[in-house]
Amino acid sequence: CGIVGYVGPKTALDVVIEGLRRLEYRGYDSAGVAVVADGGLTSRKKAGKLGNLEKELAAHPLPESGLGLGHTRWATHGGPTDGNAHPHFDSTGRVAVVHNGIIENFAALREELQQAGITLASETDTEVVAHLLGQQFPGCVESHGDGALAEAMRRVCRRLDGAFTLVAVHADAPDVVVGARLNSPLVVGVGEGEAFLCSDVAGFIGHTREAIELGQAQVVEVRSNAVVITDFAGEPAAGKPFHVDWDVAAAEKGGYDYFMDKEIDEQPQAVADTLLGRISAEGRLQLDEMRMSESELRSVDKVIVIAAGTSYHAGMIAKYAIEHWTRIPVEVELASEFRYRDPILTRDTLVLVISQSGETADTLMALRHAKDQHARVLAICNSNGATIPREADAVVYTHGGPEIAVASTKAFLTQLIACYLVGLYLAQVRAAKFPDEIADILEQLSQAPAKVRETLDRMGPVRELGRLLKDEGRVLFLGRHVGYPVALEGALKLKELAYVHAEGFAAGELKHGPIALVDQGLPVVVVVPPADRPLLHDKIVSNIQEIRARGARTIVIAEDGDTAVAPFADTLIYVPELPTLLQPLVATVPLQVFASALADAKGLDVDQPRNLAKSVTVE
Ligand code: G6P
Repeated sequence: CGIVGYVGPKTALDVVIEGLRRLEYRGYDSAGVAVVADGGLTSRKKAGKLGNLEKELAAHPLPESGLGLGHTRWATHGGPTDGNAHPHFDSTGRVAVVHNGIIENFAALREELQQAGITLASETDTEVVAHLLGQQFPGCVESHGDGALAEAMRRVCRRLDGAFTLVAVHADAPDVVVGARLNSPLVVGVGEGEAFLCSDVAGFIGHTREAIELGQAQVVEVRSNAVVITDFAGEPAAGKPFHVDWDVAAAEKGGYDYFMDKEIDEQPQAVADTLLGRISAEGRLQLDEMRMSESELRSVDKVIVIAAGTSYHAGMIAKYAIEHWTRIPVEVELASEFRYRDPILTRDTLVLVISQSGETADTLMALRHAKDQHARVLAICNSNGATIPREADAVVYTHGGPEIAVASTKAFLTQLIACYLVGLYLAQVRAAKFPDEIADILEQLSQAPAKVRETLDRMGPVRELGRLLKDEGRVLFLGRHVGYPVALEGALKLKELAYVHAEGFAAGELKHGPIALVDQGLPVVVVVPPADRPLLHDKIVSNIQEIRARGARTIVIAEDGDTAVAPFADTLIYVPELPTLLQPLVATVPLQVFASALADAKGLDVDQPRNLAKSVTVE
């Protein structure tokens, strides 16, 4: 969910709506706002995207105010209805609360409130917090005066289990917005005579680039000219100030119809930025960010990669590369599975946690599970100051810039770069067996931005293919070796964006079941490895023939000059040459473009597919 709170001289509603617009990628099944004005609290909320709320506001305007909050929701408790949209209120209607996360003990709290004679208006866990705050506030005014709302929030937080970001306002505290966080993100924006409380910096980037990251289990009280942070017990606490180094243009569409298309086109730059400063003029890798001594790097005897969604696919590719370059065994696991397993970790296990947002709850919990067992945790993350990099022992940032579209594109390519760098660095320090190959790979990596650019320049026919296949209900994706995770990623993109039943398979597994799915005209996308691995290459050429013989419409992605596949390809998409392990950097691009074009041709919202959210901060 996306959260914005504001206090300052501007019209709060405008600031809040603008912030919600930028945060809408965090959830978009309903939205709501509330402002404090003229001694009262007024609110509007609406199911559906933010546009619905804006129409409601045009029809029923809110009074002018310099203090307000808003929310854009990804439903957990209770369906996406007007009533379940945030904010939620207590029975007096004088306190408004917005929330991201899950309050695990809400059923017990709800029961307690009902026994006290309170009628709850919604099915949400959030409403419970509004009632509890409403109960606590009057007592806190007596004991804490101006600080009453923050104190009420602390008292309530002490009673909550789960993961949450909360932001609240009260009609009787017209100059303060309070917030709290536990295992869910909240950032303070500090402007000149104004302050913001948002899920992430995108919510206030149009106004200030000075930010404070809150720690876990903290409550913050913001006024136009003051920020006070405490822990849940009321002891003073410090946040972590930081400067946001991307500007507002990075969070805008800049002439594109969709953020996703813009982000796909930004990939050459994103890849270049992630490489920047990490390869010396002498061709040596510099990755001090790993914060490990040479002897620690040498003693690593196992790597476990943990991630979710697209980041998991980057992790699968990392396994092929790291094992090949370092000879260290690598396991890759979905964060949501790792978390509830009893994994074997030692101090010599390096756990590589990959997360674009740095906030995915499954991945964060898996990180903690690994740390509890004394493993060393290295994060690969795209979001400065997020929870995962903060809790990891070290972080290698991907410098992809903000990714707004829900489906991940440039973050994926930059994650691959970061994984390659980590693998090559381990190999360099451990004096791996193949120094020449490693020097060559580094050289090839430095050409990756140009190769991705070249791939993008050839995407016209791929877009055309997306439009042509817009009525297909099923598409299969096949690959071998690193092409297998690329196939999975291609299928995921198509599922996410176009709601097409798409599946990715290891091409070798085809004959063990999936080939039964192949019938006349079924589109099958095949990622063909470069000819530098002839055995691998030839095997997949056979696989293409097998499916074609059964009527499939073959869409083949192969490297420049690969003429062997041409006779079996109904559509042939050439990508520039790269060594096999690096090929995903170019082979993924057509699959992204294909999914975007197909979804657009179906008239779907490419940036905000149904039921999804970019940053899933619940387990
Ligand atoms: C969500 C997004 C995916 C993303 C996954 C992991 O499900 O919709 O696009 O890959 O989370 O996100 P992370 O931020 O941890 O990489």
